[in-house]
Amino acid sequence: MGKDKLKKWAENEQFHNVHQPPLMDVIKKGLTYNKGEWHEKVFKNNNPIVLELGCGKGEYTVGLARRFPNKNFIGIDVKGHRFHKGAKEAIQEGLPNVAFLRTRIEFIEAYFGKDEVSEIWLTFSDPQPLDYIGNRRITSPWYVEKYKNFLKPQAIIHIKHDNPGIYEKAMKELPSIGCNIEAHSDDVYGPYLHTVDEEMQDILKIRTFYEQMWLKENRIIKYVRARI
Ligand SMILES: C[S@@+](CC[C@H](N)C(=O)[O-])C[C@H]1O[C@@H](n2cnc3c(N)ncnc32)[C@H](O)[C@@H]1O
Repeated sequence: MGKDKLKKWAENEQFHNVHQPPLMDVIKKGLTYNKGEWHEKVFKNNNPIVLELGCGKGEYTVGLARRFPNKNFIGIDVKGHRFHKGAKEAIQEGLPNVAFLRTRIEFIEAYFGKDEVSEIWLTFSDPQPLDYIGNRRITSPWYVEKYKNFLKPQAIIHIKHDNPGIYEKAMKELPSIGCNIEAHSDDVYGPYLHTVDEEMQDILKIRTFYEQMWLKENRIIKYVRARI
C-alpha cells in the first residue's frame, strides 16, 4: 500500500466534510446514512443539493461550490484518496457548502431520500464499453432510474465526457426513459461554447483531472444536459 494513500485516508478521517460510513452496513444490514437528512444534519440550510458522481478529485464539486455559495455540493466516489484533494481544498478555502461521500454508486439510494437532490453531474465516468446491461455504467438508464428515486421533479443531469459511445448512448437512452435533452454538443469547446451564456461557459470550462489528460491527447469533449 502506498504511503501517500495511507496518509490521505488518515487525513480524510479528520476532515469534517468527509463522510465514510461503513459500506457493509448498507449492503449487509440494509442501513441508510443521512438519507433525507443532508440539509438538516450536514448543510444546516435548505439550499439545493447537487451531486458529482464518480467525482475523482472533485473538481466540479469544489469548482461549482466556489461559484454557487447558495447551493450545496456532494462529491461521491469509492476512492477516498482521490477526493482527498477536493475535501482538503474546500476546508482550506472555508467552503461550507461542500461534502464528500465515500461509497459505491450502486447503493446510492441508501444515502438520499425522495426529492432530496436537484442536480447531478457525471464527469468522465468510467465508460464500461462491455457493460451491455448498464449496471456498471453510471450514465445508463439502469442508474438513472435509481437516481430518479431521490431527484426532485424537473431535476437536471449533466454528462461531460470524451467518449463518443457515452455521448451517443446518453442521447438515445435518456429520452427513452422520459428525460428531455435540453442541451448537447459533441464538441463542447468548439463553436457551441459561444452559443451559451457566460455563466455556463465558465461552468463548462471547469476541467477535471481526467479531462485534462484527455485534452492533452486532443480528444474532443462532449456534453449532454437532460431534465428528468
Ligand atoms: C475515470 S474516473 C473520473 C474521475 C473524475 N470525475 C474526473 O473526471 O477526473 C472515474 C471515477 O469514478 C469512480 N467510480 C467508478 N465506478 C464507481 C462506482 N460504482 N461507485 C463509486 N465510484 C465509482 C472511480 O473511483 C473514479 O474515481
